[in-house]
Amino acid sequence: MTTKHILLLHGDGIGPEVVGEAKRVLEWCGTAAGMSFVFDEALIGGSAYDAVGTPYPAETLEKAKKADAILLGAVGGPKWESLEYAKRPERGLLGIRKDLDLFANLRPAMCFAALADASSLKPEIISGLDILIVRELTGDIYFGQPRGVSVENGHRVGRNTMIYADWEVTRIGRVALDLARARGKKLCSVDKANVLETTEMWREEVQKLRDAEYKDIELSHMYVDNAAMQLVRAPKQFDVMVTGNIFGDILSDCAAMLTGSLGMLPSASLGAEINGKRAALYEPVHGSAPDIAGKGVANPIATILSVSMMLRYSFGLNAQADLVDAAVANVLESGLRTGDIMQTGAKKVGTREMGDAILTALQNLAANTKVA
Ligand code: IPM
Ligand code: MG
Repeated sequence: MTTKHILLLHGDGIGPEVVGEAKRVLEWCGTAAGMSFVFDEALIGGSAYDAVGTPYPAETLEKAKKADAILLGAVGGPKWESLEYAKRPERGLLGIRKDLDLFANLRPAMCFAALADASSLKPEIISGLDILIVRELTGDIYFGQPRGVSVENGHRVGRNTMIYADWEVTRIGRVALDLARARGKKLCSVDKANVLETTEMWREEVQKLRDAEYKDIELSHMYVDNAAMQLVRAPKQFDVMVTGNIFGDILSDCAAMLTGSLGMLPSASLGAEINGKRAALYEPVHGSAPDIAGKGVANPIATILSVSMMLRYSFGLNAQADLVDAAVANVLESGLRTGDIMQTGAKKVGTREMGDAILTALQNLAANTKVA
């Protein structure tokens, strides 16, 4: 029996609750697929700081390097906001992304039919929506040097550097073009080439790559301000979008709302494939939601859909991933809702009940689709 090692990083706020439900789904899928999933845990974020004085303990990186896949809840919270920069929960997340070279962040935004009315946009604008944002995750202004706040001529000056090398653009461009090839063969690259030279170079490199190796893909370019506007005006015009770290951060929150709630969006952060293995971290796009933490009301669906991405991208278990996606759709069809996606006439449930319902739906689906 194949064994896979999965590292759970619960993190802060609602992290432990949503990861708890996602783990149950993973366990079920492992058994169904005849694979043995072995779980380990490590600290990250504010809870790591509280326990051992750093948001990113060395042991966490060690365990992360050895794991076949990582599932992370969320990090952050007001409790740690006034800490010095290096001690803040976010440093743990940014550290692990950088150290494992998880440069390709896949953020699909799909609108489940049952939730078409839950979005703040009109149902006809978002029903059937299925787009994929590919965000570069280890470069850009997030990591560029120089950075920091200093005193210059008696004034405090803050500085961050937007920087990309051509090879960084090409490697994320290639991921996005490959994904576009497997989907609708349309890629929109988002930049601010009218103002920022870095992103003008980005535009040229993506175009060059497409012309050299991906002539079958229809490539367009869009300025980020327009892209934000188009995402809320007519999101279905997009198939795959590719962009840098900071623009991708902003646009993916925007895209999340199209699906009804930030509580619905999964993500995968992937590294390069080395000797048949690729580092991979899966996490919901939402944050730690400190206001509802520990109350058992958080929506676990984004984390459960992140598990589906793990099954697909790390373990090649496409059939199980399809089952998880279908189970989520069925539960939503049946009218169960956590508070964030509550609609009139629906039944409000908590985190655990939503997890239970998805597990039951999985069992029913598996029983019905079993082939002799
Ligand atoms: C995200 C988050 C992170 C980011 C934060 C928590 C550091 O907003 O994953 O989108 O900015 O990348
Ligand atoms: Mg973000």
